[in-house]
Amino acid sequence: MSQEKRKFYEMDREERLAFLKESAGLTDEEAASFGQPLAFDSANRMVENAVGIMSIPLGIATNFVINGVERLVPMAIEEPSVIAAASKAAKIAKAKGGFVAETDEPLMIGQVQVVSLANIGAAKRKVLARKKEILAIANSKSRSVSAAGLQAREVKDSSKNKMGRMLVVELVIDAKDAMGANAVNTMCEAIAPRVAEITGGEVVLKILSNYATKRMVRCKAVFDRDELGGKDIVERILYAYALAHSDVYRAVTHNKGVMNGVDAVALATGQDFRAIEAGAHAWAARDGTYRSLTRWWRTKNGDLAGEIELPLAVGVVGGVANVHPTAKVALKVLSASNNAKELAMAIAAAGLAQNLAAMRALASEGIQKGHMRLHARNIAVMAGAKGADVDRVAKKIADEGQVNVEKAREVLASLRKGS
Ligand code: MEV
Repeated sequence: MSQEKRKFYEMDREERLAFLKESAGLTDEEAASFGQPLAFDSANRMVENAVGIMSIPLGIATNFVINGVERLVPMAIEEPSVIAAASKAAKIAKAKGGFVAETDEPLMIGQVQVVSLANIGAAKRKVLARKKEILAIANSKSRSVSAAGLQAREVKDSSKNKMGRMLVVELVIDAKDAMGANAVNTMCEAIAPRVAEITGGEVVLKILSNYATKRMVRCKAVFDRDELGGKDIVERILYAYALAHSDVYRAVTHNKGVMNGVDAVALATGQDFRAIEAGAHAWAARDGTYRSLTRWWRTKNGDLAGEIELPLAVGVVGGVANVHPTAKVALKVLSASNNAKELAMAIAAAGLAQNLAAMRALASEGIQKGHMRLHARNIAVMAGAKGADVDRVAKKIADEGQVNVEKAREVLASLRKGS
């Protein structure tokens, strides 16, 4: 096989990096540093009491076509099969045009909680009447993002503590290409004293909401029936989806698979994946029951169509995305260095792809076979295999369905005897 024809997964690390230099325009320095551990000094500046770096494998999912554009999708994840599965699902989607995605404007919500109010309705009216003044205070704090809206609503404590009724004043902020947490929090803190004066109440919390429902992302794809394995597989995938839609025990695992894709791209590109997780799960439970984050149906042609919708607050300016060298290069590989919307759509596509791949495996041979094949390599190494012996031992123990160290030692010994 010629060098040019080699698939990404067939290349060694040097070849993969050379490919990224060529296709994503990485400099020698970027390619050399890509995926290398953070310097301890940087880690020590990022968190408190630092003692080291926790490394996670970084790989590239291939075959992604999103809105007609080919993208290499960086994924940071410790779990085997995920990157291969995403690439495979993206390949199937590509045959029918790839992923079609769209995003809302990057609007974030910041909350200011006002308590100890005698008349909440009157306080709300007063705040809304001073919208212009409050937005001006918020906007005086940032040149990069802009507070565009103000809303207010009454909330009643539903806990056993019975803390009563309160007013929540919400800023709606256009975060542009930033995730927006810092700017939103700063703006909320800035308006708080004036909100307290206007309402005559006491302000407690001033913080963004990670439930970014004004920043939704939607992504769709069609997966060819025959590429998936035939009409029975489509039927079985629809049964899998039926359970995820209708039963919380399955929905959680189904969404875990979605988040394998979402989090891996988020982590590789320096996003706050805990914020994404919290928002996604709240969205999954929006009608009062926790359900699948994806929706699946059969098309008129008998193919499988799927869609994901979730709130995604991600940024390409500010935050870790700008200071972590790997995240910066990952954004460049994805061609999303200047565009948070492109990043959000790629994250959604990875979530949808991952979900399809998991359901397809579960609806056919199950996931353990594939997992075990990959795990067999770790077992081979644990048994002492080196170099080419790793794959030889792994193949043998996986083929024989005996993925354990004892068997791997036995196979290794006989290989060594034979050579
Ligand atoms: C494993 O990390 C994820 C899956 O369990 C997802 C699913 O069950 O859909 C395979």
